[in-house]
Amino acid sequence: MSKQRILSGVQPTGNLHLGNYIGAIRNWVEGQNQYENYFCVVDLHAITVPHNPATLAADSYTIAALYLACGIDLTYSTIFVQSHISAHSELAWLLNCITPLNWLQDMIQFKEKAVKQGENVGTGLLDYPVLMAADILLYQADKVPVGEDQKQHLELTRDIAVRLNHQFGNGQTILKLPEPLIRKEGARVMSLTDGTKKMSKSDPSELSRINLLDTKEAIAKKIKRCKTDPVRGLEFDNPERPECHNLLTLYMLLSGKSKSDVAAECQDMGWGQFKPLLTETVIQALQPIQEKYDRIMASKGYLESVLREGRQKAEAIANQTLAEVKAALGYSQPL
Ligand code: AMP
Ligand code: TRP
Repeated sequence: MSKQRILSGVQPTGNLHLGNYIGAIRNWVEGQNQYENYFCVVDLHAITVPHNPATLAADSYTIAALYLACGIDLTYSTIFVQSHISAHSELAWLLNCITPLNWLQDMIQFKEKAVKQGENVGTGLLDYPVLMAADILLYQADKVPVGEDQKQHLELTRDIAVRLNHQFGNGQTILKLPEPLIRKEGARVMSLTDGTKKMSKSDPSELSRINLLDTKEAIAKKIKRCKTDPVRGLEFDNPERPECHNLLTLYMLLSGKSKSDVAAECQDMGWGQFKPLLTETVIQALQPIQEKYDRIMASKGYLESVLREGRQKAEAIANQTLAEVKAALGYSQPL
């Protein structure tokens, strides 16, 4: 039996942080040998918020290099840049025309981001989940590993696929319905400055997140200043202590220890003892990623060849799905 197919992506907006790593990329790496994997840098999504044209291309390369540095293995996985394959934009248009407006207006992430942008909300921000649906459906992906915040977009993707199949499939399945793959632990890494908010690239405070490329000094400073509480003895799962739960979870996931071991180790600790331990654990976990990243970035030709081959492999699948959708919608063949 052939392997199930995975597709996922991250936007090249700002640096990748521990939330992206723990919620998404680490899971891609762990499962990759069981699947046929496609990981894209979703640079078309990156312009749904104000962006800098001078850095967009370089930022996309950085994300692709970080995929490799985090352990994405080209034996099992294909890495490519979304904008290099025009089928993504084209399918997004076709799907737009079968997606009811109110489905998009109901998306939580749209509402949150729209509030931040005030009067200047672009159509792209509203339409963002349709492009995401196109990313996934083009590859007929079985599973989509993401953080918890993307669950609603996955449900929308399925709804769009059902609608297209129903309206235009003539009883056939044109687009496969994908399943989200969301891990329980770490699916929502919280901000270091507020344990009730998710860690996010768009938080104005750099102190709220640890980036994968942060220096040791920056990591130490951020953990030193992070929000805690006045209680002695650390514990998981106390809703009154969201920061405590978040920091213990980070320690557990990055040290590789089990939850019960961490709970026992930290139950009598104060923050003064725990923070240096967490700092050391984060630095140790990120060091190999940073070293590998530096090696990859030193060889731009290599990265370009990865993305070129990635594009070729991905494009063949994407174009085939696009052709099937266009045929179902009744388009003529280009002459
Ligand atoms: P983005 O940074 O929005 O492009 O997100 C890329 C991936 O990281 C998606 O799969 C998100 O669900 C995941 N992600 C982003 N922020 C977090 C977070 N704070 N905790 C867990 N996963 C996250
Ligand atoms: N919307 C996702 C995010 O912000 C990024 C994304 C775009 C994505 N296309 C995708 C994730 C396809 C998974 C699959 O995190």
